[in-house]
Amino acid sequence: MQSIPLPTIANSLIDSFQRTHRSLRISVTDRCNIRCQYCMPAGLVQFLPRNQLLTYEQIEMLVRALVPVGITRLRLTGGEPLVRAKLDTLVKLLASVPGIESIALTTNAMLLAEQIDALIEAGLRNINISLDTLRESVFKELSRRDGLEKVLTGIDAAVKRGLKPKLNAVLLRDINLEDATELVEFALERELTVRFIEYMPLDADGSWDGTQMISGDELRVLLKKRFGPMELLDRDDPARPSTNYGFQNRTGTVGFIDSVSKPFCGACDRLRITAEGLMRNCLFGKEEWDLRPYLQGEYNPEQLVERVRECVASKFAAHGIGTPEFVSPERTMHRIGG
Ligand code: 5AD
Ligand code: SF4
Repeated sequence: MQSIPLPTIANSLIDSFQRTHRSLRISVTDRCNIRCQYCMPAGLVQFLPRNQLLTYEQIEMLVRALVPVGITRLRLTGGEPLVRAKLDTLVKLLASVPGIESIALTTNAMLLAEQIDALIEAGLRNINISLDTLRESVFKELSRRDGLEKVLTGIDAAVKRGLKPKLNAVLLRDINLEDATELVEFALERELTVRFIEYMPLDADGSWDGTQMISGDELRVLLKKRFGPMELLDRDDPARPSTNYGFQNRTGTVGFIDSVSKPFCGACDRLRITAEGLMRNCLFGKEEWDLRPYLQGEYNPEQLVERVRECVASKFAAHGIGTPEFVSPERTMHRIGG
């Protein structure tokens, strides 16, 4: 059996603020079957030509190069990752890389029911599903498409197979704030976790507006009124962005990802690769490190890792939302991956 060198302090991906990077978010496509307002611009979106996407083999090569320097957790994102053909074959390739501890998927679940068996067979266990409302009319307003039924069928399919998908919700004050309590009820009934992510300035159009964002503090007050006292649960992993709470006599959990009002950049362990092969050290970063030259032609893992180290070394301490210098990144969420 091939032995992999265990990452030591000396060769891990540590930035200038002593953060060690263990997690890689892999965007497999910038396409999506819906158009959430908080993520995509309203008009025509120019997607990458398919021949410019990293192939599954190139993604596997990238991951194999990064395991020896400490990357152990992977998350597949998009756009919507399930619109890329045969995603299960990528999961299978990645699951076979020695040293990978977890592979997770972030999806809108519209195509999940038809793919769930293949994904589980390939080794996927950990799924986050975006669910912002339980009302079709609001779904249509928020995501500019129909499809709530499909999403709910996708969630059911995962639950039926014994998975515990985490539900992710973004609330916009004028659109779906009223859905918050229903979403919690939905999660608790199924003994799932719903996590509320503060609306971040990643939506193109420059349309982010702090007044549309519902802060975790505001939401906790609202939810306590309806569900009673909340009990803070232990954080099993300091790099996990969500602060989770339970309610008395109920099994489900509600989590808060207060990325804007209480940034958790200090514990960030994440790197991101875009669908075309550019590495980013932050959702809000302005620079990208092109890894394509090292994944085409002659594979050169040493040079690739050196380039990744440059990316890590340039990471800022924090995103700086709310400071006068802050500028939204040009790349919107659907082209980065959550
Ligand atoms: N702010 C907060 N969360 C967002 N997501 C997408 N865009 C934004 C934004 N502007 C979340 C979605 C999804 C994941 C991919 O990222 O809820 O769960
Ligand atoms: Fe698609 Fe996800 Fe962006 Fe919504 S948040 S438009 S589901 S990529």
